[in-house]
Amino acid sequence: MKISFAEPKLPTSGLLVFLVGADARLGASAKVVDKATKGALTRALKAASFAGKKGESLSVLAPQGREKATILLIGAGNAKDVDALRAQEIGAQIYKAIGAVSGSAATIIAEMTGAKARGGELAASIAIGARLRSYKYDKYLTGSKGRSASSKLSRLQIMVKGATDARRRYAVLAPVADGVDMARDLVSEPSNVKSPKWMAAQCRKLTKLGVKVEVLGEAQMRKLGMNALLAVGQGSVRESQLVVMRWNGGGKDAKTVSFIGKGVTFDTGGISIKPAGGMEDMIWDMGGAGTVIGAMRAIAGRKAKANVIGVVGLVENMPDGNAQRPGDIVTSMSGQTIEVINTDAEGRLVLADALWYTQKRFKPDVMIDFATLTGAIMVALGREYGGLYANDDGLAERIVSSSKEVGEKVWRMPLDDAFDRQINTPRADMKNVGPRWGGSITAAQFLQRYANDVPWAHMDIAGVAWSDKEQPLMARGATGFAVRTLDQFVRDHYEK
Ligand code: BES
Ligand code: MN
Ligand code: ZN
Repeated sequence: MKISFAEPKLPTSGLLVFLVGADARLGASAKVVDKATKGALTRALKAASFAGKKGESLSVLAPQGREKATILLIGAGNAKDVDALRAQEIGAQIYKAIGAVSGSAATIIAEMTGAKARGGELAASIAIGARLRSYKYDKYLTGSKGRSASSKLSRLQIMVKGATDARRRYAVLAPVADGVDMARDLVSEPSNVKSPKWMAAQCRKLTKLGVKVEVLGEAQMRKLGMNALLAVGQGSVRESQLVVMRWNGGGKDAKTVSFIGKGVTFDTGGISIKPAGGMEDMIWDMGGAGTVIGAMRAIAGRKAKANVIGVVGLVENMPDGNAQRPGDIVTSMSGQTIEVINTDAEGRLVLADALWYTQKRFKPDVMIDFATLTGAIMVALGREYGGLYANDDGLAERIVSSSKEVGEKVWRMPLDDAFDRQINTPRADMKNVGPRWGGSITAAQFLQRYANDVPWAHMDIAGVAWSDKEQPLMARGATGFAVRTLDQFVRDHYEK
């Protein structure tokens, strides 16, 4: 979909979209059209009892005086509530409503009296909302279900006073949407294609944007002593990989922020095998890596003035003659030993080595890891909130505040020595599972032992990396959760 901005100059034909505020309030341009059509818009609003509430939409076809036009009226709610985030949702709402009316091109008049977001900000926010909502994973649909059939709307023009400002703002937002879409593509890919090496190849594509990409194979990881990560992949015929992505936009003296992702390209559970029902969901067990890669793409794409490192541990967890067994004891890169009680608690083994490697090699200012780590976080927070853990209150607050700015829901969870003790075992330094209760917390406690003294946060995104229902800014499926939060976090705390 091609998105462009122009100064207002009302077309007399085609699909025209107007925002309607609460109490069916029309903007100035809509009033002009209403007049030209002898009140067709106000009549239609009345006949449909259209109140301008958010979510409402109404199409007026070929009104007298504008016979070649279709007017789409979009309920935008109370003007004073329309800030940049609401405007994004309105953009998404418009994209969806256009799909119902059909048409390959549309013009949106970004005008709303009394809105908090105005001019270029309103227009760019509407544009990015439409752009995010337009994502569809149709790579494997053929024939009439295929790509050409599903993406009807190919050109979207947004008219606004101050089109130059809108263009400038959109140019910063679009790379972030590219990052979200990339994460969604990666997470959606089926695991017959999505091997650790395939994932590494996708990371390498970021080289074009100026990201330095390094890929470590099993031999290199063995030399480094990453036996916890390697143990997870040893039952797979596909080679495990660790990818390091570096964006140096901040210059020599800038601090380094690091993101670490769990990239289990398929999680069968290993020898502690999962039940068959729903196992197909485990294609998205690399969601944490997807977030990190998508964030790197966003940050490099907009040429952020910051130094950012992304590290993803890529493995496939399979049952096999060579797979690790419950009861095995592995020595992680940190030197700490782990008794593997359950081979399905594999994500923490991958992250243990990735976290240790990241801090030893890069001495980052902070480490934030992302993982579809536990079913337990879904019990705690449902499918609405990502669970945040941190060994540093300031860092947790900064992440939560950035997440709010972009409208992603994050909830802080506790860490506590009482939980830490629950992963002690007589046979090794720790075991990889705790007792039944608080499973997401004991998983986080495990990771904390590998964060060492570095300010660190962990986000358990098992509940939010994939959505079975439609979201305000996206259709169901992979969400690209936290890509926008990370981009915002870098913008808020590591630039300027
Ligand atoms: N990848 C799963 C967690 C998960 C579950 C992600 C559902 C997305 C949806 C993780 O590797 C896992 O299997 N965790 C176990 C841990 C348990 C064995 C301690 C779990 O949550 O059941
Ligand atoms: Mn598992
Ligand atoms: Zn897993």
